[in-house]
This record gives sequence, structure tokens and C-alpha cells, in this order.
Amino acid sequence: MSSPLDLIVRRARIATAGDTFDADIGIKDGKIVTLGSQLEGAAREIDAAGRTVTPGGVDAHCHLDQPMPAPARMADDFESGTRSAACGGTTTVIPFAAQEKGQSLKDAVADYHHRAGTKAAIDYAFHLIVSDPTEAVLAQELPDLINQGYTSFKIYMTYDDLKLDDRQVLDVLSVAREHGAMTMVHAENADCIAWLTERLVGAGNIAPRYHAASRPMLVEREATHRAIALAELVDTPILIVHVSGREAVEQIRWARGRGMNILAETCPQYLFLTADDLGLDDSYEGARCVCSPPPRDAANQQVIWDGLGDGLFSVFSSDHAPFKYDDPSGKKPGGQEVSFDYIPNGIPGLETRMALLYSEGVLGGRITVNRFVELTSANAAKLYGLYPRKGTIAIGADADLVIWQERDLQIDNANLHHNVDYTPYQGQRLKAWPAMTLCRGEVVWDGQQFTGRSGYGQFMACDKPSLLPQHRL
Ligand code: URP
Ligand code: ZN
Ligand code: ZN
Repeated sequence: MSSPLDLIVRRARIATAGDTFDADIGIKDGKIVTLGSQLEGAAREIDAAGRTVTPGGVDAHCHLDQPMPAPARMADDFESGTRSAACGGTTTVIPFAAQEKGQSLKDAVADYHHRAGTKAAIDYAFHLIVSDPTEAVLAQELPDLINQGYTSFKIYMTYDDLKLDDRQVLDVLSVAREHGAMTMVHAENADCIAWLTERLVGAGNIAPRYHAASRPMLVEREATHRAIALAELVDTPILIVHVSGREAVEQIRWARGRGMNILAETCPQYLFLTADDLGLDDSYEGARCVCSPPPRDAANQQVIWDGLGDGLFSVFSSDHAPFKYDDPSGKKPGGQEVSFDYIPNGIPGLETRMALLYSEGVLGGRITVNRFVELTSANAAKLYGLYPRKGTIAIGADADLVIWQERDLQIDNANLHHNVDYTPYQGQRLKAWPAMTLCRGEVVWDGQQFTGRSGYGQFMACDKPSLLPQHRL
């Protein structure tokens, strides 16, 4: 007779978005089937010994093997990206099936499934990127895809190959409203950036640090306000991604004060990096930290911490956009040190996201462990239609667990599992790291090494978003 349980995680101090309690976790066929004390009858046991156990992370903003204009190529595919995620406590990723202008959206999705193939080591779903909202996309493809489980999409207000004008944004938002999808908005004013870039480059200011000067907070503030106004006109929620500081936060608080359902995401780079990391002089080293919006300053970091603490932000994602530093496909296109406006935008962060927030947020006394779970897992699962399968520790949920170990360590790229030759957080001190990560009951990180396997990860079609109640202000 087979035993009633496959695995018991014993003596766990369980933290969900709502509660903290002590229990044994009984797992069968990859699901949590019982929570109780002194459970018996499992083929295998893991003693969590009073350690905090949280739901596996859901990283709802990461880019893996996303097609890029040559010579740029993302360093992580679904194999290395999900391996790295697992070793940092993330058990679900939601990267982007990106439509190129002129491409059918359905073809972009088919191509992305092909790229994921049998490579993923943890579970995954797809957001879409809509860059070409033709009549066919708006009337047919997008509604069909939403109904097939691709219930969220990102739109861009900047980047020449991706950006939509305001009229197109309205068109896309109204499809989201009609079909109950969630729209994620990259809010930066493209014309302001182009104008500033032209002047900077014209004056010979081409070092990486000028990337930050070409995208000041004002350009994010203006686009955030405009996105909010467009969402108000259509009367649909939006989620502003990768919010970097005070002026954008003010716009979101203003909209919330008017009763609008404007959601917001932020990322580790806006807590742990500043514009100084792009360089204090004209050296090229700062290319490592070129991402958009750029990191700001210490005062803006504090504003982001405040928003994490007081409920402004719903989601904390990595925005992992991996490019090697010393590589012709990465930060040195074609092997050259180039003007800042030709440096591929993005930094790696899938593996370090959870431990950074756990260390400085929870153990640093800035947020509760329950808020940590909301930000890193539960809210993303709710917003993107994966809850309660993902994002919680409850009977019936997937057995996606992180067992935390409190210890002093320093981030070192040599210990990470991505395919990038650097981490922007090199040397950052941490107070904890996952002792173990389980994805559907399988140990995928044992505290020393990746123990999962490529192909284990399952694709998940998403339900329509369940919107969070109006946030605390
Ligand atoms: O610089 C960034 N964030 N690159 C990734 C693409 C995006 O806009 O999120
Ligand atoms: Zn973006
Ligand atoms: Zn991104």
C-alpha cells in the first residue's frame, strides 16, 4: 500500500500573506494536502526545525530568451533563468511573449512556447508584450489569447521598436477592459528621452552614466500621469511596472486618492542601486547597471521602502533582463564600448530578489514577513490569475515552499546560477538565503546546489486577474 503522504515538512514556522503559524506540511502528488501537528506516514521528511517557511516566489516581471535586435542576445534562456530562480527561492516565473512590430501576436506566443520548450525547471506562465495593436490584434488575436490563459500584457510608452502612442494605448486598454485582462505599463516619455539623448550625445556625453541623465524622474512622472489619465478615460485598472522613485509614487498616490485602481510594482534595483552605480566618471564599468528607468538616489530609495511598507506597491519583481557585460551580445555590442544609448537595457536579478527583500525588508525591520509574502508571491499570483494554486501555503495549493536560513553572507556572482558574468549586487551583505526551495514538492535547491531538472516546469494558463481591494494609502 502506498503511504498517504509523499513528504512531510516538519516543524515549519509558516508565513503566508495573511497569517503566521507553526505546523507540519503534508505533501502528496506535488500538492499540500494537510497542515497539522505531528503528522505521520510519509515516505520522506524534511525537518524545518522552526525555520520560517514562505510560499515559493512568483517573479512576475522577468525577461528570458526574449528576441532582441542583433547583436543583442539575452544571456538567460528558460534553462539557466529558471535554474537561477529556483536557487534563489522562486518557483514560478512569468516572462514575456513579445510581439515584434509586423508580427502576429499568436505567432509570438507560439515562438515563445518553442523557446520554453522542455527547458524550464520551475513553473511558468506568459505575459504578452503588445507592440503592434493592429485591427486584427485588437479584434481577434488579443481577445482569443486572453481567453486561452494569457490574461496580462505589457505595453511600452518608450523604446522605438516597442512604444505605442496614446491612441494605441487607449485601444489596447479598452480590449483589456472588455475582456478582463491586466495591462502592465512601462511609463517613460519617449520624446523627452530622445530629445535629451540627442543633446547629451551631441555634446560628447556618451558614457554609461549619461543614461541616467537621459531618463530623469520627470520623464517617468509625466508618462505615469499620462498612463493613469488614459486608464481613467477607459475606466480600467493598470499596473505601473518598475516604479523608481518619488515623483512616480506621487502620481500613483494621487490616482488612488481619486479612487482609481492603479497598481504598482517595484524592483530591487530601486532599493539597492543608485545612479552613482552607473559611474561617477566616464568609465564603462557602469554599463552593468544600465536599466530603465534608471536607479535614482538614496532619498528615492527611501520613498520606495515607504511604499513597500505602507501598501502602495502590490508586487516586487526582479525585472531580470540579462545581458553579459564583457560580451558582444551584451553590454559591449559587437565587442565595443558604445555610447550609452546603444547599451542594452536591463540587469540580472532573478536569483537575488527574494533574499534581498527578506534580508533588508523583513530582517531589517522594514516590513512584516506577511507583507514580504504578499509582495514576492501572493499578490502576483492573484493579479495574474494563478491564485491559490500559487502564492500561498494552504490545502490544495501547489507545494511550492522556501525554507529560510538566517545567516550572514555576501552576494558573489561566482555563487549564482544565471548565465551572466556579473551581478549588480556584488558584495551586498545579506542576512538570509533559502536553505531549500521546493517546487510542487520536489527539492529544486538544497542549500548547496541546484537539484531540479530542466523540463520539470509546467506551463500554466492564467485565469483572469482577481483584483486586489483598494489599497491602503
Ligand atoms: O531596462 C530594463 N528594464 N530592461 C528590460 C525591459 C523593460 O523595460 O522592462
Ligand atoms: Zn519596462
Ligand atoms: Zn522588464
